[in-house]
This record gives sequence, structure tokens and C-alpha cells, in this order.
Amino acid sequence: MKLTILGATGATGICLTGQALAAGHHVTAVVRDPARLAVPAHQRLRIVTADVMDPASIAPAVAGADAVISAVGPRGTGPTTVIQDSVHSIILAMEKSGTSRLLEVSGSIVADEGESFYLRYLIKPVARRTFLRHVCADMRRGEDEIRESNLEWTIFRPPALTGKSATGTYRTAIDRNLPHGFNVSRADLAACMLALLNDPATVHRHVSIAN
Ligand SMILES: NC(=O)c1ccc[n+]([C@@H]2O[C@H](COP(=O)([O-])OP(=O)(O)OC[C@H]3O[C@@H](n4cnc5c(N)ncnc54)[C@H](OP(=O)(O)O)[C@@H]3O)[C@@H](O)[C@H]2O)c1
Repeated sequence: MKLTILGATGATGICLTGQALAAGHHVTAVVRDPARLAVPAHQRLRIVTADVMDPASIAPAVAGADAVISAVGPRGTGPTTVIQDSVHSIILAMEKSGTSRLLEVSGSIVADEGESFYLRYLIKPVARRTFLRHVCADMRRGEDEIRESNLEWTIFRPPALTGKSATGTYRTAIDRNLPHGFNVSRADLAACMLALLNDPATVHRHVSIAN
């Protein structure tokens, strides 16, 4: 497939890009600084320097893609609109170019359905009031924009991301969080996203994943 990956220089984006190339996909990696893309050159890898916040800037990179994947997110936990603004721009660019399939990384912090008691009533309310306040609000605004779009979207909701190796034994759930889903490796998240690229059962759905 022809994939366009935004946020390709991030820790998850690098996993996505490497695994997609290994799986035989053609990848367009959209970056703001090519020097940050820690992926070896590859004949099926096209690197495009563009501003993800500007629909006109990324439109050529999403045009013709079978799927667009965004792992753009704020670096840090301060006030941010990075997810909402990037999602807004990506949707405009995709709708203009007629590209329909979008896979977006959000987070399990936004939702409670399916959550275990300890996380739902103790950990998450505190996190939402304190250190994840801004990121959670940004994720929720981004998700709202995606749900209001006409795209064939899938929103992924991982808990804390780790840099561990892929296990291939991650758990998933649709439209609810996973009990005791404390973390997942970025490598497993990337593998899950790529495995569900073409899965119609995940269109207009939220996919939770955890190790
Ligand atoms: N970290 C966690 O535990 C966790 C948990 C749940 C969900 N998530 C979400 O999962 C996704 C991936 O997380 P990660 O930790 O792998 O990401 P990351 O390493 O922090 O990478 C973030 C990516 O977003 C890009 N980005 C940030 N601000 C930008 C801006 N203003 N303009 C353009 N690009 C910008 C970065 O580009 P540069 O390389 O150019 O900075 C980078 O490619 C994010 O959406 C995050 O919110 C994270």
C-alpha cells in the first residue's frame, strides 16, 4: 500500500515507518526536519519536508495515499493544541485530495469505558486534573474533529507508551478501554496500526491496545 506517515520523526512514527517498509509498503514520511528521521534510506521511502499544520503544505504528500497515519503529538505536557491543529490540517488536506483512510494515535486517557476500577476512579481523574490535563484536552479536541469528518477513520487509544520491543501479543478492544491496560510498546502499537490498515471492522471505531 501507499502510506503517508505524519509525525514520522517521533518515537512511534519511527516504528511505523520502519515496520511499514519492512512489510513492503511504500512510505511517504512527512517531517519538519529530515535530520530527525532516524530511519535508513530505502527505495520505497519518500521523505517530504512540510508543515503538518498547513493543509496546503501537506496536500501533495497525502494525495494518492491508500492510508494516512498520524502519530503527531506534543513534545511535553504543557498547554498544547498540536493534536487538534494537526488533525484539522490533515482532514482538510485529505478531503481536498480525495484521500479517505485516516489512522490517528490518540490516548486511553480520554475515555473510561471498560477501564478497571483503580484506573477509572483513582489514577485517571488525578492525571486529568494534573500532569495530563493539557494533553488529554488536546486529544479530545482532535478526536472530536476526526469523528465530525467524512473520512474513514480509526482512532487508536494506547495507554503509556514504552520503547520496548514488539511482543506481538498485545490486547485490543473496540470502543472501550482495556482493563489493567497500563502500557504498550510503541513497536506493538505500530504493528497493530499496520495490521488494521485495511480492516473494515475498525472504520469509525476507537481501538484500544495494551500489553
Ligand atoms: N508518550 C506516551 O506515553 C503516550 C501515551 C498515549 C498516547 N500518546 C500519543 O501517541 C503519539 C505518539 O507519541 P510518541 O511519544 O511516540 O511521540 P513523540 O516521540 O513525542 O513524537 C511526536 C511527533 O510529533 C511531531 N510534532 C510535535 N509537535 C509538532 C509541531 N508543532 N509541528 C509538527 N510536528 C510536531 C514531532 O516532530 P519533531 O520530531 O519534528 O519534533 C514528532 O514527529 C502522540 O500523539 C502522543 O500524544 C503518547
